[in-house]
Amino acid sequence: MLARGPGAGIIGPMGFYGRHVLPRLIDLAMRSRDVMAEREKLVPRAAGTVLEVGVGSGLNLALYGPAVERLYGLDPSPELERMARRRLRQIRFPVRLIAGSAESVPLPDGSMDTVVSTWTLCSIPDPPRALAEIRRVLRPGGRFIFIEHGRSPDAGVLAWQDRLDPMWQRVAGGCHLNRAMDSLIASGGFRITEIDRGYNRGPRPFTFLYRGLGVRS
Ligand SMILES: C[S@@+](CC[C@H](N)C(=O)[O-])C[C@H]1O[C@@H](n2cnc3c(N)ncnc32)[C@H](O)[C@@H]1O
Repeated sequence: MLARGPGAGIIGPMGFYGRHVLPRLIDLAMRSRDVMAEREKLVPRAAGTVLEVGVGSGLNLALYGPAVERLYGLDPSPELERMARRRLRQIRFPVRLIAGSAESVPLPDGSMDTVVSTWTLCSIPDPPRALAEIRRVLRPGGRFIFIEHGRSPDAGVLAWQDRLDPMWQRVAGGCHLNRAMDSLIASGGFRITEIDRGYNRGPRPFTFLYRGLGVRS
């Protein structure tokens, strides 16, 4: 008899859709022109030793600037890691891809100058725990660069986000539509020094963005 854990079934992370279809859909959606334009505004500001949480298929890798000395890319998905590995060829700084979760980062305290998270906090099951880990690995004064989608300030859009969230989580790898990213980040012990909130192109429940910088307080 086949084992049926929580990730089993066609849609679950261990099912056919989760292993073969979803990673390709993620890669495709996350390299659209509008999404890449958002990345270009903030990712080049990373510097020093960098951790990217939820590195996914590696779409930020080519955007890091000359100030980056080395990068750790953390992600639980082996399929996305394979795609990221293919994108390493043109990268001039050392990159180590690590299989794992942002809720338990296998790196020492205070070892990172920058942590980057793009469209990732939406999918992490326990974001306060992940933010505590991000804070732990950042050196004092280290910067957290984020581009995240989440809770809209417009009541009509938010109602749709709340309505769609349970179904969306199932088809989009645990992604939540309605997380208030700025309050999550601030209550995780970061002083937000820059923030730009607003819609990107596309259906509004999916495209309200929080882009900014936090400093480990
Ligand atoms: C929408 S994708 C974005 C991928 C990538 N950050 C990007 O900008 O293209 C969400 C990512 O979060 C990752 N993820 C899900 N749970 C995670 C966790 N607990 N820790 C770290 N990453 C996680 C997924 O594997 C996936 O790569």
